[in-house]
Amino acid sequence: MRTLILAAGLGKRMKSRKPKVLHEVLRKPMVLWVVDTVLKLENNLVGIVLGHGWQHVKAVLPENIHIFLQREQLGTAHAVMSTGDFIRGDEILVTYGDVPLVELETLKRLLDIHRTSRAQVTLVTVELEDPTGYGRILRDASGGVKKIVEETDADEETRKIREINTGIAVYDGDFLYEALKKIKPSNVQREYYLTDVVSFAGKISTLKLEDSAQTLGINDRVQLARVERVARERILTRLMLSGVTIEDPSTTYIGPDVVIERDTTIRPMTMIYGKTSIGEECEIGPLAFIQECEIADRVKVMRSECFGARIGSEAVVGPFARLREGSRIGEEARIGNFVEVKKSRVGKKAKAQHLSYIGDATVGEEVNVGAGTITCNYDGFEKHPTVIGEGAFIGSNTALVAPVTVGKGAMVAAGSVITEDVPENALAIARERQVNKPGWAEKFRRERSRSHGEEK
Ligand code: UD1
Ligand code: MG
Repeated sequence: MRTLILAAGLGKRMKSRKPKVLHEVLRKPMVLWVVDTVLKLENNLVGIVLGHGWQHVKAVLPENIHIFLQREQLGTAHAVMSTGDFIRGDEILVTYGDVPLVELETLKRLLDIHRTSRAQVTLVTVELEDPTGYGRILRDASGGVKKIVEETDADEETRKIREINTGIAVYDGDFLYEALKKIKPSNVQREYYLTDVVSFAGKISTLKLEDSAQTLGINDRVQLARVERVARERILTRLMLSGVTIEDPSTTYIGPDVVIERDTTIRPMTMIYGKTSIGEECEIGPLAFIQECEIADRVKVMRSECFGARIGSEAVVGPFARLREGSRIGEEARIGNFVEVKKSRVGKKAKAQHLSYIGDATVGEEVNVGAGTITCNYDGFEKHPTVIGEGAFIGSNTALVAPVTVGKGAMVAAGSVITEDVPENALAIARERQVNKPGWAEKFRRERSRSHGEEK
């Protein structure tokens, strides 16, 4: 089988510089929702029609998709025609890049109906309370589909029809190829409508869906927000039913590609996006923002931001920590308040509990990074590495000027500026020695108050 996704339109109603299909639903471009779903169908060759901003759309697509360009957007039929022979000699599923929530099961049912009924076209339709904006399904006396009339071409009577075209359909490819040649842009929008091929079909079947939400189309930003809401609720429901506690679904956002194991609790005001996996018995949130992370079992992340990080089991992150791309936090490690970690490995049971920056560093197991420790990894031109050996102790307010290595078990005195390697088990002190001047303060105060008195 083959699938063709139509995604060439700019989406005028979005009022955006960006192609419509790149607008995101739960931080995933809407076109990828469709792409990922159809790629799950077996033996499916997938093509997509791009036009407006095609380079930008192409950039987010997986490689195994055939791209067709429709330079001028003359309508959905014209879009299909611009794929040439792609649609011939096979059954062809057509979906729209702006209808992101359609489910795999629905597509399978659609294909089943199409095959068993030996139809030339099988449409997915749905009845809507408010069908505004959609093409209406006109049926004849015996209930067969006669034609599809777009909103802009519909008279008052037709607009009252509540059964609409979702845009998702399966066609006999050869039939479609021939039918497309007969389509004329004789409608209000002067466009070639794919929906007009219905008039040339001998046998049309329909799959009338009960669940209208999965076929919501996005034409403006109000509909975008609506789809986001529906998608969000579905994902949260699925997770809760699979054993994840979500304390406050109304303030929790979880993307479609997030996997969370059972007995994990998601606390309020948490957002988890991208290809993120979270193990069992974790506590995430409140106020966590997590994207593209791999989190093992029994991890806690509180009031923190994690992007592109991997966190080992039983580690504790936050409150107010920031893990950036390439952070690898070891098992049972602790990353505390106002600690930023970037492109660094933090070993098992290591601790950086307060006010630190750890960048381009390798921190060994059971290292203690004191409050206010900074890796000075950047010289204005290049980034340099810092290595802290297993069991080392870095005193508070230390600056580690990279490239630099602190050996295993070494200690660094608080307030040091470390510019040279520290040998294993050594103590490094790199600061001015303290001078105490007995009675100096008292004398100072006495002199000051005398001179102030004279002035008065
Ligand atoms: C379309 C259907 C309508 C259906 C609705 C469902 C037609 C004529 N109408 O209307 O019956 O109820 O979807 O959401 O098909 N596109 C191209 N090239 C073009 C024009 C459009 O690739 O020249 C793409 C768009 O990028 C979009 C999809 O086709 O992804 C649908 O186009 P859109 O303009 O949104 O059609 P609707 O008015 O929503
Ligand atoms: Mg649309």
